[in-house]
Amino acid sequence: MKTQIHEKFVSLFGEGGTQFASAGRINLIGEHTDYNGGYVFPGAIDKGIVAEIKLNGTGKVRAYSLDYNAQTEFGLNEEDAPKEQWARYIFGVCRETIKRGGKVEGFDTVFAGDVPLGAGLSSSAALESTFAFALNELFHNGIDKFELAKIGQSTEHNYCGVKCGIMDQFASVFGREGCLIRLDCRSLEYEYFPFDPNGYKLVLINSLVKHSLGNEYNERRESCEKAVALMNEQFGQVETLRDANYQMLEAVKGSLTDEDYRRAKYVLDEKERVLAVCDALNEGDYELVGKKMYETHWGLSRDYTVSCPELDFLVEIASECGVTGSRIMGGGFGGCTINLVRDTIADLFISKAKREHARRFGIIPEIYHVVIGNGSRKL
Ligand code: GLA
Repeated sequence: MKTQIHEKFVSLFGEGGTQFASAGRINLIGEHTDYNGGYVFPGAIDKGIVAEIKLNGTGKVRAYSLDYNAQTEFGLNEEDAPKEQWARYIFGVCRETIKRGGKVEGFDTVFAGDVPLGAGLSSSAALESTFAFALNELFHNGIDKFELAKIGQSTEHNYCGVKCGIMDQFASVFGREGCLIRLDCRSLEYEYFPFDPNGYKLVLINSLVKHSLGNEYNERRESCEKAVALMNEQFGQVETLRDANYQMLEAVKGSLTDEDYRRAKYVLDEKERVLAVCDALNEGDYELVGKKMYETHWGLSRDYTVSCPELDFLVEIASECGVTGSRIMGGGFGGCTINLVRDTIADLFISKAKREHARRFGIIPEIYHVVIGNGSRKL
């Protein structure tokens, strides 16, 4: 991929530039908790986005996407937003950097990725983080790493219509080989956890149902915010669901729709599960980790309502095969399940999942073996 990018860059713009990369991510547990001030447990993967970039001495960005085989050009003022979605990510990162007082001038770029799109592996965060990190280096802006992640998040909010949390961009920037990272999304404290579960592996199964986050995601967030507003009115000091407990939620249940209530309850349940998983990881109790993953899945499916028949089916197959843990990963509505599988049954499970999914839905899911890699970097 790196050579292809370089060759294209030279053919389009003459002399080559500098390459930067950022990663896609997995998340062991803690789903839809980030924008609720809770904990998440992501890690960067060995797949991501690579971009070659060179300043061009103009006020314009000339960008070429190898994957879409498409080129565009845009200026750096608010009214210059390009119409191509892929270019809006880059434009958004430029604008958010400028809003934070950073310098950004014209540049040429060619980029490509090997994170499957719409699979719940955060290809968009990888793209944002690559450019946020690169512009910071190239223009010597001295913006700290958390702010770089926030530049990506604000790009989603302000230029792509997704009111996402911080998890994906955080993992993409901060990832470290071999480690998962527990992030407290309220205090932004984080801790690296070496993850090498002896006798188990992490396997992703991509249902190939393309997910794109938008309205449905934002609606989940609104449900949580409604519950927060009511509890805050009654009890005070409830800024996010992180500050709430079951008694508070029960007290406002009558004023919430059943849908909003169940979504808020899911978030409270998930908060407890993440903490239980942290303890279980410290004890090396992967069976308990797996049990919690299944609970998360059914919470996401029945209460948070972000699953789909294909994902529920894949989790059921996992359970029938005796897989330790299995659940939807990421925002939901399609994409991958993440599976914690004992080495001894991995092959059997994978072939059964492929076969049964194909029989039921007419499509063979893709399998990815997770390798936990590094976050944003210059190559
Ligand atoms: C998407 C969002 C994240 C997070 C997850 C669900 O990936 O971008 O911020 O909310 O969904 O955990």
